[in-house]
Amino acid sequence: MPVYRYPMPKGSEITDEKMFLNRRQFMVSAAGFAAGATVPTIGHAKTIDDYKALNVSVKNSPYSTEDPANPFEDITTHNNFYEFGTGKGDPAANAGTLTTDPWSIKVGGLVNNPGTIDINDILNSLELEERIYRLRCVEAWSMVIPWVGIPLASVLNKYDQQGDAKYVSFETLVRPEEMIGQRNAFGLDWPYVEGLRLDEAMHPLTILAVGVYGKQMPNQNGAPIRLVVPWKYGFKSIKSIVGIKFTAEQPATTWNLQGPSEYGFYSNVNPGVDHPRWSQKTEKIIGSGIFGSRRQTEQFNGYKEQVASLYEGMDLVKNF
Ligand code: MTE
Repeated sequence: MPVYRYPMPKGSEITDEKMFLNRRQFMVSAAGFAAGATVPTIGHAKTIDDYKALNVSVKNSPYSTEDPANPFEDITTHNNFYEFGTGKGDPAANAGTLTTDPWSIKVGGLVNNPGTIDINDILNSLELEERIYRLRCVEAWSMVIPWVGIPLASVLNKYDQQGDAKYVSFETLVRPEEMIGQRNAFGLDWPYVEGLRLDEAMHPLTILAVGVYGKQMPNQNGAPIRLVVPWKYGFKSIKSIVGIKFTAEQPATTWNLQGPSEYGFYSNVNPGVDHPRWSQKTEKIIGSGIFGSRRQTEQFNGYKEQVASLYEGMDLVKNF
């Protein structure tokens, strides 16, 4: 595997210009990917009306924040989805090629009734809720997103877990013919993989999201179904999921494999533990106008009351 350091964040999002230059140098020298290919095709940006509405009524949730949500445009044009390129505009520019119908998720591992979930069963579920959460990226930016989703627990509960299941792993689609980033050598191994401890996966804040702003999930946000774990850095919220497994051992996770000293398995948002190359004390609010400023990063991204008990007695510096 090539020597690779997580190249985020961009210079405009942090103060250290040198880091930005390092990132560009990396991009130019990365095998098989010309820097020019990261330039987004802004002229083709879709608007909210271009997306299909969800056809069930969506419940409100007490878990939603009352902070103002970012506009649909911010949410769908500033993305991380390396399967479509490493630039923030690349997913919007390149993810139109992804076919999301038909789509199913294979569920297996330590369960007595492995099976397959058809995406339509979730899209038509009466359990769909709006969850307005702040997404805090490890790159020190955030935005507030009105997801539509179903508690992950209500999906996992359909499976008869074996006693030794302690973790849940997730896997993204591998389809290089539709995912331009998978045809380029960024140094990431595909599929993108993630994992949670079973109690984190079963927590009521954890959802499988199938939409934003009442519309079906835009491809660049992880269509047709992605994880959202609001108290963890954004990279835990894996997109375009095709596989879920119950496991006994802590599963391997993509960014932890790339840089174990920089990206832990837990990756709980924590302003007290800086990234080795930048501060995590504050975050840039993506967007302009009332957005565009910085805010203090909150422990567990503001969900301390709900999730701190999951980590009682644990050293959060060691288990970062
Ligand atoms: N999932 C896959 N499969 N590939 C990715 O590159 N990027 C992660 C996460 N999920 C990523 C992924 C990162 S770093 C972040 S911050 C969030 O998706 C971004 O989600 P958004 O683009 O919907 O804001």
